[in-house]
Amino acid sequence: MAASLSRSLGLGLVLSLIIVWFSACDAQVPGFRSIDCGGNNQYTDELGLNWEPDTQFPFGQSANISIPTETRKQYTTLRYFPADTSKYCYPLNVTTRTRYLLRATFLYGNFDNSNVFPKFDLSIDASHWSNVVIYDMSTVVSKEVVFLASSSVVSVCVSNALTGQPFISTLELRQLNGSLYYTDFETKSFLSLSARINFGALSEEPVRYPDDSYDRIWQSDTIKKANFLVDVAPGTTNISTTEPIDISSGAEKPPQKVMQTAVVGMNGTLSYRLNLPGFPGFGWAFSYFSEIEELGPSDTRKFKLVIQGLPDVNKPTVNVLENAAGMYRVYEPGYYNISLPFTFPFKFRKTNDSTKGPILNALEIYKYLPINSGSSDASSIDLLASRYSYASWAQEGGDPCLPIPRSWVRCTDDLQPSISSIVLSGRNLTGNIPEEITKLPRLVEIWLDGNNLTGTIPDFSGCPELRIIHLENNQLTGGIPSSLSSSPNLQELYLQNNMLSGVVPRSLLNKNKIFNYSGNVYLRKERNTKKDFIIIICSMIGVAFILAAISCSCFLSHKRFKFFSKEDDVTKVPPPPPPQKLQTSSFDEFASVTAHRYSFSELERATSNFEKNIGSGGFGVVYYGKTKDEKEIAVKVLTNESAQGRKQFSNEVSLLSRIHHRNLVSFLGYCPQEGKNMLVYEFMHNGTLKEHLHGLAAKENPLSWLRRLEIAEDSARGIEYLHTGCTPTIIHRDIKTSNILLDKNMRAKVADFGLSKLVADETYASTIVRGTVGYLDPDYYTNQQLTEKSDVYSFGVILFELLSGQPPLCGARLGEKYKHVKDWAKFHYETGDIRAIIDPSLEENYRDIQSIWKIAETAVRCTNIYSTERPTMSEVLQEIQDAIALEQAPVSGAVAIPVFSDDTSEYPDLR
Ligand SMILES: *[C@@H]1O[C@H](CO)[C@@H](O)[C@H](O)[C@H]1NC(C)=O
Ligand SMILES: *[C@@H]1O[C@H](CO)[C@@H](O)[C@H](O)[C@H]1NC(C)=O
Ligand SMILES: *[C@@H]1O[C@H](CO)[C@@H](O)[C@H](O)[C@H]1NC(C)=O
Ligand SMILES: *[C@@H]1O[C@H](CO)[C@@H](O)[C@H](O)[C@H]1NC(C)=O
Ligand SMILES: *[C@@H]1O[C@H](CO)[C@@H](O)[C@H](O)[C@H]1NC(C)=O
Ligand SMILES: *[C@@H]1O[C@H](CO)[C@@H](O)[C@H](O)[C@H]1NC(C)=O
Ligand SMILES: *[C@@H]1O[C@H](CO)[C@@H](O)[C@H](O)[C@H]1NC(C)=O
Ligand SMILES: *[C@@H]1O[C@H](CO)[C@@H](O)[C@H](O)[C@H]1NC(C)=O
Repeated sequence: MAASLSRSLGLGLVLSLIIVWFSACDAQVPGFRSIDCGGNNQYTDELGLNWEPDTQFPFGQSANISIPTETRKQYTTLRYFPADTSKYCYPLNVTTRTRYLLRATFLYGNFDNSNVFPKFDLSIDASHWSNVVIYDMSTVVSKEVVFLASSSVVSVCVSNALTGQPFISTLELRQLNGSLYYTDFETKSFLSLSARINFGALSEEPVRYPDDSYDRIWQSDTIKKANFLVDVAPGTTNISTTEPIDISSGAEKPPQKVMQTAVVGMNGTLSYRLNLPGFPGFGWAFSYFSEIEELGPSDTRKFKLVIQGLPDVNKPTVNVLENAAGMYRVYEPGYYNISLPFTFPFKFRKTNDSTKGPILNALEIYKYLPINSGSSDASSIDLLASRYSYASWAQEGGDPCLPIPRSWVRCTDDLQPSISSIVLSGRNLTGNIPEEITKLPRLVEIWLDGNNLTGTIPDFSGCPELRIIHLENNQLTGGIPSSLSSSPNLQELYLQNNMLSGVVPRSLLNKNKIFNYSGNVYLRKERNTKKDFIIIICSMIGVAFILAAISCSCFLSHKRFKFFSKEDDVTKVPPPPPPQKLQTSSFDEFASVTAHRYSFSELERATSNFEKNIGSGGFGVVYYGKTKDEKEIAVKVLTNESAQGRKQFSNEVSLLSRIHHRNLVSFLGYCPQEGKNMLVYEFMHNGTLKEHLHGLAAKENPLSWLRRLEIAEDSARGIEYLHTGCTPTIIHRDIKTSNILLDKNMRAKVADFGLSKLVADETYASTIVRGTVGYLDPDYYTNQQLTEKSDVYSFGVILFELLSGQPPLCGARLGEKYKHVKDWAKFHYETGDIRAIIDPSLEENYRDIQSIWKIAETAVRCTNIYSTERPTMSEVLQEIQDAIALEQAPVSGAVAIPVFSDDTSEYPDLR
């Protein structure tokens, strides 16, 4: 009786607590946090999600995007940060040992009116999360991870802008329930979302909250984008139901709305190919099945998964009805750790004894991202910062050292870095010297000068590597601790202008050290018995050995002047505080050569009177030459003379001479000569790419696939520099294989840049279409609007040439139907037959066909007829580098832990 009363009392208490809790979080979904970066008020959106502004955030600035049609309020604002070497972190409170889904989104929207698409890094605590690459103005770039919170705060940081300024539009944190997305690896890896697809979707709109109570965003399979669910098998049909689905039978609780639709392979197979962003690598891949079609009594639906190159994966048979224990229930087989490629083809094929074709309701693939455990001094640094939580330097979140250090520390180079310097000069610090500083074992430098620190100097014996201590210009009291005099590596100690007292330890007065203690009125130097002793000895011996005595006293007076006078004890000017921000621009990219003016006779001599013609192009004839100092040069004699005078020519030339880049042919000088202006370039030993692809060299010594990728990378770099590194931007206008030259080491450089401006008469430039047939951008041809994207088009044609070995027009392998290599290659690319394109001279001389797919895809995008749909050169460069990484990586093995079932006896094929 008493027990049941207390139990019902307890229940009542719990119930009322729950009610209080729910009303307190009225508008907010429990476990959800949505931050509208750059926003300035709180609101609830049409989905019922409650957005909060980030007005408390101390860094960066808010901005509005300039897309008037964007109506989702959270995307209309953003916060952006300086493109410097700092990182900018949002600390988010979380509950430890709880799994979360974290989504960061980025909508550029030309917020800075510069149309420079930013590219920067995203990290989570000490771990690299992703590179954020903005490809266009109006697409929301979204990054998602699932992680297990290991501490009470998780920091999301942006840093390291390669172009533009880092920014962020939203941050969404969704607490997951129970064992959703549990893996055995969760303390070592995050799950980074690569694909989450709702098959048989009824519209292009994604399914999310409130249909998905965890607000996962399930992409519709009807969306059209490059290499997303292509190669669909014939006979693929959408099916859907309105019957309720029991989702509790799936570990990941996929939303009912997603499970109510599916695709079915009426003709026996379902097949798809899609790109998996972030891969190749190891990942978590699960499929979701539910029988939603009314089957006849004798119907069966059994099928197998077929993934090319993964024979072990292909064995288990899926029988949805059996495994889900009936209809309208979820069956969720998958792989906890499977090696997947970037371009991922997969197929479900019905077994011979099955009457129905395969079904697929949904699919989720994540890549494992290693968790970096962070720097070893993180807790000391966090404690230190928490003492000054009002100061903005103390609010820089994230790991102290990783991926890049906070602005006021420097770190060791170790894999798990430690703090090597603390730089907090003139930060208005008050109180005692924070004791956390004395607990940094690898500390080398301390800068705490110019603050208002009081109290005594602490014991630094916990920092044996200390070399430099700056404590000057504070209010420190007490004596100089003996631990400082026994500090083994101390080289510089600055204590001037404090209120220290007591005696200066003698061991600090060493001529190899810098020690400044002036301006401490109560500090006495010790009576120096050693000095007296030396004087006695000297005078005794001195009677007999005068010379020796003189030298000895000289030594003493020298020594005294230097070390024993309090007023003069500043023996070296202290170095200025170290720069807190390091410049990272790589100067080696830019040679410092300036244009030289050659005389006509000089060039005449160098070229032996223009004897050896090594090429001719749109702008003139090129001759080989060798200057007096044995430097090999190429002299271009311009033919297409315009009315421009000598002055304008040299103006243009001086402009040209300021463009220097490792991947642009070096411009050495010029020779103004009426009617025969000349330009002098470095000589490129291995000639043009054209010869190596379609000429004699191609037959004798065909380029390997990796070499082709490197040539593509080099030339993309050169063109990217013209587009983004020069002001005003330079559009090459004549990108083609004969303008890509190869040096001694077969590294490529782009030639003939900046010439169109030099040669063409300005006023007609916009109406005369320049360029070379086969490489000419059709959009430019029709609209006569010249942009960087015209170069991108031409470069795309070059990529096709590198892939196929075919010239742009009328290649032998193109047949009757196709004139242009682009149309022919695109046809084969779209039908999924990449091998039909590959240059036969490559034979099987490539390691990973994924890199070929990647280049083909890039070439297709570059040659889109609409210039706005084409990628930027920076993006193209990134793709090429990814392809190189694929080609250089060891071929991924087929390692998988199948969890289709624990009981192999269900799958006779396994035996
Ligand atoms: C953004 O727009 C709002 C209203 O349209 C305006 O009040 C605000 O000042 C703008 N913010 C910035 C940073 O321009
Ligand atoms: C996060 O946690 C800290 C410390 O518990 C607290 O002061 C702060 O208000 C919390 N922030 C939010 C947004 O809940
Ligand atoms: C989390 O789990 C509890 C109990 O298992 C359930 O009542 C609650 O609805 C779940 N929350 C979500 C968002 O699904
Ligand atoms: C699919 O099967 C149907 C009937 O079995 C047949 O008519 C159709 O041609 C098949 N489609 C393809 C592309 O094989
Ligand atoms: C499925 O339905 C969507 C929308 O109605 C449609 O776009 C898509 O082509 C259909 N897919 C198939 C395989 O029929
Ligand atoms: C997945 O398996 C591979 C190969 O066995 C292993 O190297 C890797 O660490 C595993 N992934 C995770 C996240 O544990
Ligand atoms: C130290 O504090 C005093 C007053 O408390 C103030 O006048 C002075 O500017 C402070 N010095 C520094 C370096 O902040
Ligand atoms: C220095 O810090 C104190 C609090 O410790 C604060 O009141 C004062 O405004 C600060 N002064 C400056 C110049 O930042």
